[in-house]
Amino acid sequence: MAQPGQKVVLITGCSSGIGLRIAVLLAKDEQKRYYVIATMRDLKRKDKLVEAAGDAYGKTLTLLTLDVCNDESVKQCINSVKDRHIDVLVNNAGIGLVGPLEAISMDEMKKVFETNFFGVIRMIKEVMPDMKKRRGGHIIVISSVMGLQGVVFNDVYAASKFAMEGFCESLAVQLLKFNVILSMIEPGPVHTEFEMKMIQDVSQKDYPGADPDTVHYFKNVYLPSSVDIFEALGQTPDDIARCTKKVIEASSPRFRNLTNPLYTPIVAMKYADETGGLSVKTFYHMLFNMGSLMHVTMTAMKYLTCGCLRSRTVSPH
Ligand SMILES: NC(=O)c1ccc[n+]([C@@H]2O[C@H](COP(=O)([O-])OP(=O)(O)OC[C@H]3O[C@@H](n4cnc5c(N)ncnc54)[C@H](OP(=O)(O)O)[C@@H]3O)[C@@H](O)[C@H]2O)c1
Repeated sequence: MAQPGQKVVLITGCSSGIGLRIAVLLAKDEQKRYYVIATMRDLKRKDKLVEAAGDAYGKTLTLLTLDVCNDESVKQCINSVKDRHIDVLVNNAGIGLVGPLEAISMDEMKKVFETNFFGVIRMIKEVMPDMKKRRGGHIIVISSVMGLQGVVFNDVYAASKFAMEGFCESLAVQLLKFNVILSMIEPGPVHTEFEMKMIQDVSQKDYPGADPDTVHYFKNVYLPSSVDIFEALGQTPDDIARCTKKVIEASSPRFRNLTNPLYTPIVAMKYADETGGLSVKTFYHMLFNMGSLMHVTMTAMKYLTCGCLRSRTVSPH
């Protein structure tokens, strides 16, 4: 149970990746400022988290079952929290979807929205009324750079994160009146099961319904570039956990928090040209004309990007 003075933090999707690392980092806080309720939809997947939490498990970290796609599961979980009191809600659970649109079923697309968009809304609807009553609380949404800039072959995933950004922009204004803070964390590529699941998934599929040219561009042009981008620019789940902790601890938390300074120019480019043409053409050239140069470009970007961009992001260090 939370001790007096401890902040109760509930995190969704803690069986792996970013959610697991946020849970562990907060639970191992030296000053024991947090009582972490780490949730996952299937407790059979708890071992990695329990091992990483070490001594904190059972003291500053507890586990609960929660499936963000299921009304009953969300209600049961929140009702089992003492006085339904949650100081910080971290909406982390999410799934990816990549590939030629023609080969993706409507059901797969709906599942992405059900998890990444409606899953977050379901959580917020359950937790927000108590926060409003108490005139305090912090809601964090793990969004993505793809919530700000679309990426080829990630059409539906990006759309789910864009939807989330619009939702949060709207809600943040009302919540401020109730002293409830809403923050988004916007990582670029992060090395987690997300990326592994994507690569595994892709190698097993043959994309029925998509024409051969599209499948070729996806498998032989987009995928190798994507692997290069992850290798050159990818952050670790620990980086994102450190950024999230900083946002939780900030005296005046920012609404938007890009975690990777290398993505600042991409977002800036979008807002610099109101016609939208600059972004579309730049991404087109990067993918189709620079193909083999991509690796070199990404590595160069990593080393050359000036330090001033870092001030526009929440740094993991
Ligand atoms: N990795 C990246 O490059 C990247 C970049 C930007 C943003 N993000 C965002 O970061 C968040 C975490 O992703 P990750 O990279 O850490 O991926 P991950 O390792 O695949 O973790 C995703 C987590 O979400 C859980 N989850 C999926 N559906 C759920 C549901 N219906 N109810 C509850 N939990 C569910 C998964 O649980 P199971 O074990 O049960 O599947 C897993 O614990 C996502 O919102 C993602 O969009 C990731």
